[in-house]
Amino acid sequence: MNLINTLPEGIQTLISQYKNPSPTEFEDRIGMPGYIPENPDVIMDAIAAIAQGKNILLKGPTGAGKTKMAETLSYLFHQPLFSVNCSVDIDAESFLGFKTLDYKEGKQVIEYVPGPLIQAMKHGHFLYIDEINMAKPETLPIINGVLDYRRTITNPLTNEVIRAKKGFNVIAAINEGYIGTTRLNEALKNRFIVIELSYIQGEQLKALIQETTDLNDEKTIDAFVQFSADLVEAASQGKISEEAASIRALLDACDLSQIIPPKRAILRAIIDKMEDEREKEVVRNLAETLF
Ligand SMILES: Nc1ncnc2c1ncn2[C@@H]1O[C@H](COP(=O)(O)OP(=O)(O)OP(=O)(O)O)[C@@H](O)[C@H]1O
Ligand SMILES: [Mg+2]
Repeated sequence: MNLINTLPEGIQTLISQYKNPSPTEFEDRIGMPGYIPENPDVIMDAIAAIAQGKNILLKGPTGAGKTKMAETLSYLFHQPLFSVNCSVDIDAESFLGFKTLDYKEGKQVIEYVPGPLIQAMKHGHFLYIDEINMAKPETLPIINGVLDYRRTITNPLTNEVIRAKKGFNVIAAINEGYIGTTRLNEALKNRFIVIELSYIQGEQLKALIQETTDLNDEKTIDAFVQFSADLVEAASQGKISEEAASIRALLDACDLSQIIPPKRAILRAIIDKMEDEREKEVVRNLAETLF
């Protein structure tokens, strides 16, 4: 399915107007497309916000396609994607870069290596901030001015004032409500257009399984689509935790099912990741009835 052809003409025009027109030295950072929206509004609203230079915050559970959506936007706008992942132990350097010693013509010199934020601003490219709610509080002031209308930062490492070039956009992602994550600071959240993503289902999920997994038996694919619907339902009733219905894990189970029996594939890809015995039992029972 070619996503771009399915978008209304107005949206396609918007993309072509805001698209990065020139070749870039960071061609290898342009994402691969493939995101399938649960409904067209999700992708259209994201495109509209990006084309107006707004920041978007992708909110959704693990394996719902947040990163895939960011890559797809990068592809559609032909914009390299620089990224920072806040879940690892990051500090200001992860955004701004660092200074290092180098030798030039036999002399020791201090070189500045720009970080992803600086690169994206200077070149007018995209910055993907993953798990932004995990960012340490002291790093947030660094990006606040970048995220609002000022689009400016004084780089403390070089004292240079940097104003973002046209094309610069921030796409952030968050797993809200998930254990181990903290709520996003209100002032920070205020600077984003929020796009909520949930696990795709039905025809969209079937298309994704057909396009991206090794599984090719249609009956088994249909059973997996139903299994996913059952998992999502069980999660919404609080019987299992939300991530048990992750599309990522489901795709793994589909891949394995091309070689091993689906029930064992489900055990490896989904059930054995879970902690709670009762929750495991719920998933096992759902699998039993379908496979
Ligand atoms: N709507 C979707 N369209 C296309 N691919 C999807 C979709 N949902 C999930 N996937 C696939 O599922 C896998 C996980 O997606 P992705 O890594 O984008 O999830 P995520 O929301 O970023 O998860 P996390 O919060 O764990 O980082 C990928 O292989 C991705 O292609
Ligand atoms: Mg991700």
